[in-house]
Amino acid sequence: MGVQKKNPLSLLNESQLKDDLILTNGLEYKLFLSQGDSFGNNLNFGSDNDFIAHQKISETQSIFLFNHESPLQGYPAFEQQKQVGVSLIVCQKGLDNSWTPIKEHPLNRRIDGTTEIPFSNNIKIKNKNSAIGTLANCAGGKTPWGTFLTCEENFHAFYTAYDFSNKTSQYSWELMSPYPSEHYGWVVEINPLTGQAQKHTSLGRFCHEGATVTRAKNGMPVVYMGDDSNDQFIYKFISNKKDSLEDGELFVADTVHGKWLSLDINKQPQLQKSFSSQIDLLIQTRKAALLLGATPQDRPEDIEVHPETQDVYISLTNNFDKARPFGAILKIKEKNSDAASLEFEAETFVSGGADSTFACPDNLCFDRKGNLWMTNDISENKLGVGEFKKFPRNGLYYIPLSGPNAGQAELMAYAPPDAELTGPCFAPDHSCLFLSVQHPGIASNTEKITSHWPKGGNEKALSSVVTISGPRFQELLQT
Ligand code: FEO
Ligand code: CA
Ligand code: CA
Repeated sequence: MGVQKKNPLSLLNESQLKDDLILTNGLEYKLFLSQGDSFGNNLNFGSDNDFIAHQKISETQSIFLFNHESPLQGYPAFEQQKQVGVSLIVCQKGLDNSWTPIKEHPLNRRIDGTTEIPFSNNIKIKNKNSAIGTLANCAGGKTPWGTFLTCEENFHAFYTAYDFSNKTSQYSWELMSPYPSEHYGWVVEINPLTGQAQKHTSLGRFCHEGATVTRAKNGMPVVYMGDDSNDQFIYKFISNKKDSLEDGELFVADTVHGKWLSLDINKQPQLQKSFSSQIDLLIQTRKAALLLGATPQDRPEDIEVHPETQDVYISLTNNFDKARPFGAILKIKEKNSDAASLEFEAETFVSGGADSTFACPDNLCFDRKGNLWMTNDISENKLGVGEFKKFPRNGLYYIPLSGPNAGQAELMAYAPPDAELTGPCFAPDHSCLFLSVQHPGIASNTEKITSHWPKGGNEKALSSVVTISGPRFQELLQT
């Protein structure tokens, strides 16, 4: 391994850590959209932007999806319901290669916490074949047939608890609109051209971080998914149809023995005692996975498949209950490099920690040269204190997969105070990186406002999307 030069950002002392998105030498950012911004058609950009994806609609235009994970605290539920979900916005590439939203484009739309969304295959849950709204939209995915996937993660914060304990949820929406918790915690597929959405029960119900789609050697779609909670599991879904996720088989990972375990009730006699039907099992996916002996993980978050090797990289953020606060990236090699294999080998790719340049990996994204970009997620109350002393801010990292610095995470950006960087996504022409800056200044209180980013002065801090480019970016991505 080569010796890395001291990273310029890691040399900054506390007084040099400005209230800004601080980039390493040779990178620059532009503000793209902030929470509340109008994008025409009486639509406003939601709160807490997260996952970003795009589909090309012409040589110079693409339709983008932006997730909105959490609502703003202190607003009534009927306003919060409009803040979550997704924004679909058509964007234009300019002559200078920069991207801008096209306001008033007819394909611009919001799908939010009030939109009626059917369950796929006309399945009924709690006597209804549709749900009201999507929420807790964390990460997601995109399919080879041109649709987007948005994932419902911490849904128990909105409509009673996941464990059916009938406790009031964090946002207590159930007090205003008493929809069943079982209608949330699914993967939602959205056709950006029609706005049609459906909730896929076949992909299971849990705290879905993301849903990464690849194809098996026989051409069938395979979706990798993490359940982001302590000691929860890694899943994959193998579809039975070439361009659809409506029908297929769900599996959960036993990473000790390198096996994918089927969650099909007809193939697992021991599950037939605990669940009355496949949909009953899918509603309680976690319970079924535990009964099968799946391997508990340290908060499995984002998953990406390497475009050349097909290796599967999985962020395991941390597990304080198990005294593993720093997380790691796990690498799975499917047998015969086939996503439909039911056997695999698993190993740690890189670990976070006090001896490492990073901690608590979260979102991942491969660039066109096959190198990895990563954002991390240290909770705002732990940044820069105790065992996280050397991590004063969350960041954006670049991890080359080959060459002298292979496997060494290089810090490329520090987030504004308390923020998390999420949703890294290369522009359709690779001219820049789209990045979400989520919840700057969230640790503010009446005594101290920790951030005014991006507007500065006395302005309120706003979750925003930025684009990052510059000579260093071009150097890393040039082919
Ligand atoms: Fe919403 Fe697991 O991050
Ligand atoms: Ca996330
Ligand atoms: Ca996270």
